[in-house]
Amino acid sequence: MYPINRNRRLRTTETLRNLIRENSITANDFLVPLFVVEGKNIKQEIQSMPNYFKMSIDLILKEIKLLHSLGLKSVLLFAQVEENLKDNYGTEAINKNGLMQRAIKSIKDKFPDILIMSDVALDPYSSYGHDGVVENGLIVNDITNDILAKMSLSHVEAGADFVAPSDMMDGRVKSIRMMLEKEGHHNSGIMSYSAKYASSFYGPFRDALDSKPGFGDKKTYQMDIGNREEAINEVRNDVEEGADIIMIKPGISYLDIIRDIKNNFNIPISAYQVSGEYAMIKAASKNGWIDENQTILETSIAFKRAGASFIASYFAKDVITLIS
Ligand code: PBG
Repeated sequence: MYPINRNRRLRTTETLRNLIRENSITANDFLVPLFVVEGKNIKQEIQSMPNYFKMSIDLILKEIKLLHSLGLKSVLLFAQVEENLKDNYGTEAINKNGLMQRAIKSIKDKFPDILIMSDVALDPYSSYGHDGVVENGLIVNDITNDILAKMSLSHVEAGADFVAPSDMMDGRVKSIRMMLEKEGHHNSGIMSYSAKYASSFYGPFRDALDSKPGFGDKKTYQMDIGNREEAINEVRNDVEEGADIIMIKPGISYLDIIRDIKNNFNIPISAYQVSGEYAMIKAASKNGWIDENQTILETSIAFKRAGASFIASYFAKDVITLIS
């Protein structure tokens, strides 16, 4: 009790604060999202994500070399699909020579020690911009799962270490796991977006991939923003179906969910600081309203404190450059 206990005593010097800090961040804590586009020598800034770029495969390889030199060795790939290749069934998603599959193969060939995770969902491939097949204005679950399983297999065959289903269909982790087992890919992992909310924070990402839903919204498959206990059910289902890593998304507004999952399961948790969060921090710092460097460090550590094992973040390179 005061004055014997003075909490400020432990804050007196930086050395002491560093010594007793409970959570900190290193390059090992990051998964770097990368947007791949068709073509050569293309590096296109995403308008609503200043200083973040879509790149053709040749330049993605250069970027990965740089990331590697910073110790950032895990990447999460997204592909922008050309408009004329989109259809209701996301047929292009299972093309063995599709952009995603070629990107995976090129990265694996050149950098075998880079851990490749690939996004699995139909929205960038769907003429409706939805994560599943559309019939009579509804998103059909089980047909979609069959396609997601084939899509996952094609990514793994190209060299992906993990597939990352972000679609929120029921039972897709099981469909994918069964397919990978059947084909002998026992060590290929699944990082499941288990608790993915129907959030407003995905706007800039949908601009980047041109994947906005063509009608309606994603509320019949992504989670209701008011729900907390439902996240536990979602994670339990995915763990039972064979997920190796659980993703919670978006990030900063859902730290309570990360902590709930951390307290209820023994499974690695990934947090995703999504595109809208990136855009907000960029916009405010551009206006001089917040300090960008301090804010990106603070938000990164917040994910670790909440219980995340690692963070998918567009700030990964900036944070590591800052602290190294
Ligand atoms: C696709 C997908 C989305 C994101 C990751 N995978 C968009 C969506 O669900 O609409 C969002 C990522 C971000 O905003 O940074 N299923």
